[in-house]
Amino acid sequence: MSVIWVLFFIGHFWTGAADDHSVLVVDPPSFLSGITKNVQLTCRPPVGEDVARVLTLQVIRERSLDGASDPVATFLTSAATPLVEKFGVLLNASVSASYDAAQARDALLRVDLPDPAEIAAGRYTCSVETQDSHGLLHRYLSHRTTLTSLFLNGSVPLFYQAILLELRKDLDTLTSDLNKVNVQQTALEQLNNESESKLSAITADQLQLTGLKNDINAGVNGVDNQVTVIRSSIERLRDITPVEPVNFYAFFSSQYAAVGNNANIVFNSLEQHTDTSYSTSTGVFTVPVNGTYFFRTGVTGDTATHSASIVINDKPVASLVSYDDYGGVNQATACVVVKLTVADTVRVVKKTGSTSSVFGYYPNAGHNHVSYFVGTLQWSTSHAA
Ligand SMILES: *[C@@H]1O[C@H](CO)[C@@H](O)[C@H](O)[C@H]1NC(C)=O
Ligand SMILES: *[C@@H]1O[C@H](CO)[C@@H](O)[C@H](O)[C@H]1NC(C)=O
Ligand SMILES: *[C@@H]1O[C@H](CO)[C@@H](O)[C@H](O)[C@H]1NC(C)=O
Ligand SMILES: *[C@@H]1O[C@H](CO)[C@@H](O)[C@H](O)[C@H]1NC(C)=O
Repeated sequence: MSVIWVLFFIGHFWTGAADDHSVLVVDPPSFLSGITKNVQLTCRPPVGEDVARVLTLQVIRERSLDGASDPVATFLTSAATPLVEKFGVLLNASVSASYDAAQARDALLRVDLPDPAEIAAGRYTCSVETQDSHGLLHRYLSHRTTLTSLFLNGSVPLFYQAILLELRKDLDTLTSDLNKVNVQQTALEQLNNESESKLSAITADQLQLTGLKNDINAGVNGVDNQVTVIRSSIERLRDITPVEPVNFYAFFSSQYAAVGNNANIVFNSLEQHTDTSYSTSTGVFTVPVNGTYFFRTGVTGDTATHSASIVINDKPVASLVSYDDYGGVNQATACVVVKLTVADTVRVVKKTGSTSSVFGYYPNAGHNHVSYFVGTLQWSTSHAA
């Protein structure tokens, strides 16, 4: 500390002229407390002077209240080890310095004021003491440079204008970003529109396909119906195809047959018989297959009057009646076409007339088979009618 005061004491040797100022750079020249991060004060020797050695560099603050000057920091290069003294305790100053004896005019003392408070506002001076190449001592003072607190200067609105400018720049950036996003959004929307139009094209195709499918289904149904019709035609064809031929032709081998009234006329001989359906012992035909049958009987009697019926399952379905006033040989016939099922019975039952009067043949002129019973299957029905 004493060294500094000694140097101050010898300060009166200085010979600095008006233009021979040392250099003080204050950056930035104003601050807003709480916002500004750092103010830097850099103190250098004068430019263009004969500087062989630098002895001291000092930053001085002029108090705004009483005008007195305080040193903030002093750099003593003349000491064996260059020494930095920091006085700006109140200012929270951080001080650094550099000095190279071979490059004396590059000497530098720097004071940093981090997070400056209002108290940092004031006028600053850089004082430099040198020795020229002739050994003469000099002291140079820089211009007094004001560090302004924008708050104290009442210029806060200006500061906010600066902030506003920054915000405007941000806004411009954001607006341009937004425009880019809008362009992308439009592109996406276009893509979306294209997708939608493709989707509706696909939907239309789908509808068409559905229509086609319905048409095909309708066609298939039509074909199905035709198949059903054809099937039923085939069934019918099958129905009317005789399964096996069924027929018989029965008569009497004798000239006369005695048949009681209400008894079966038992034609006891067969001219034609395809199977065993007709019984020559009972005169009953038993239906072997479902189908439509034709029966005919002819009965010749030797008395004037006789009658008989074709009886199916005890029900007369066709009858013959002969009546002759003159009392000769008479023949009458009856026939029927009827649908029958398996096990139905068909027979001829004599109703009235002489009990020994049925002619088997009539000898005059060799008439054979004057009484007979025939039956034939027209077509079979393989299932229920
Ligand atoms: C120095 O630091 C103290 C503690 O952080 C603070 O209260 C004070 O305002 C500061 N002074 C200046 C001048 O920055
Ligand atoms: C201080 O305020 C005055 C007027 O209010 C202005 O002209 C001047 O530029 C201000 N100083 C700084 C360093 O902003
Ligand atoms: C997308 O379609 C909508 C509705 O049809 C239309 O208003 C819009 O302009 C279209 N967008 C593009 C980017 O084509
Ligand atoms: C014959 O017809 C009867 C009655 O309709 C029926 O029950 C039977 O199954 C038929 N038989 C055949 C072989 O079709």
